[in-house]
Formats: sequence, structure tokens, C-alpha cells
Amino acid sequence: AYRIAVFASGEGSNFQALAEAATAGTLGGAEIALLVCDKPAAPVVHRAERLGIPAFIFKPKDYESREAYEREIVRRLEELQVDLIVLAGYMRLLTPVIVQQYAGRLINIHPSLLPAFPGKDAIGQALAYGVKLSGVTVHFVDEGMDTGPIIAQRALEVISGANAESFANAVHEVERELYPEVVSWFARGLVTLDGRHVTVAGAHGQK
Ligand code: GAR
Repeated sequence: AYRIAVFASGEGSNFQALAEAATAGTLGGAEIALLVCDKPAAPVVHRAERLGIPAFIFKPKDYESREAYEREIVRRLEELQVDLIVLAGYMRLLTPVIVQQYAGRLINIHPSLLPAFPGKDAIGQALAYGVKLSGVTVHFVDEGMDTGPIIAQRALEVISGANAESFANAVHEVERELYPEVVSWFARGLVTLDGRHVTVAGAHGQK
């Protein structure tokens, strides 16, 4: 089977959506081999327990460097023969230890239309800026902050006067739909990366 590892630091609603898609058979045959989490108290840890998904949970402070815990993560990913790393609210920059080893096999979801509003609290940044249109981006991860080649985007109108909470909910709903779909493209071998340009074979890429 095509094996993915999901990295998450928080709530885990994207993790849950991916797990449910795997169970429902809509993840292109992919299975979640591992959750990687840097926050032992995060809700996503309980979701993995409930779903029976193996987890590697660590505290960055227990390691002498970022590279040291990333080497441990890579060791576990190799052990499980993970094909794709899926970042889902993993709130740490990765070092070359993971980024180089998994180049072209490492993706992230970000709650804005990149390159607008990279970094933390993209939803809050978009609302504060007053944009009328925002959305969700899935992209390959490189060593920059939300700078890798874009795989898919979905746009969302910001309703004037929309409060932060309802807009955030709408963004998260789009994420929970889009991310499993994109992962299924990978599992089915439809995604090709050429420089900064990503193509998705078949009708799904036309959306
Ligand atoms: C998601 O909205 C994701 O796009 C965002 O964190 C949230 C995690 O939610 N990621 C980033 O902002 C990365 N820069 P979740 O834990 O419920 O999946």
C-alpha cells in the first residue's frame, strides 16, 4: 500500500479527515502509517489513539538540536517505508535533514492563497488585511516558510463583516475536503513536479 505519515501539532481536524478518508476508501488506497507530533498534550494525540494509528510523540527539548529529533523521525519513517509526508498543522520549520531526504515527497496545507499570508495565523492575517478572497493552498515543502511549489488551491470569499470564527470554520471545511483529495492524487501517482510547476494527470487537475 501507499503509506503516508501525518505530522501535526494541534487540533488534528485535518489528520482526522485523512484518517476517515483512508477508512472510507477515498484516499486513493493510501493508509496512514504514522502520526508524528511534537506536542504530547495536543488533541491530535488522542485522535490517533482513538483511531488506532501508531504515533511518534516527542518533545523537542529532549533533543540537543532540531537535526537530532529529525534524524530520529527519519529513522522511523524509513522503518515504516513511508512514501509521503503530509504536514497538517505541524507548526515547526523543517531542516534539510527531512526536507532533502523527502524532497518531492513532502507536502503541507496552508490556510491562505499563497504567496499571500505565509507563516502563522494566516486566517487572522487575511482578515486583518481586509482581502475579499482567500482560501487554502496545498504545496510541496522546501526549506523556506510556505514557499514550495503549489499543488492545489481553493478560493473562498470573505463575506463582509464575517467574524473571525465563521471564516475560520469555512476555511477548515475546505481544508478537510481538499487535503484528502490531494493525497489521493499522490497515492494514484498522478502528481508530477518539474521545477516550480506541478501537474496533476487527468480531470482532477483541471479543477
Ligand atoms: C490548519 O488550518 C492548517 O492549514 C494550519 O493549521 C491548521 C491545523 O488545524 N497550518 C498552518 O497554518 C501552517 N502554516 P488542524 O490541527 O485541525 O488540522
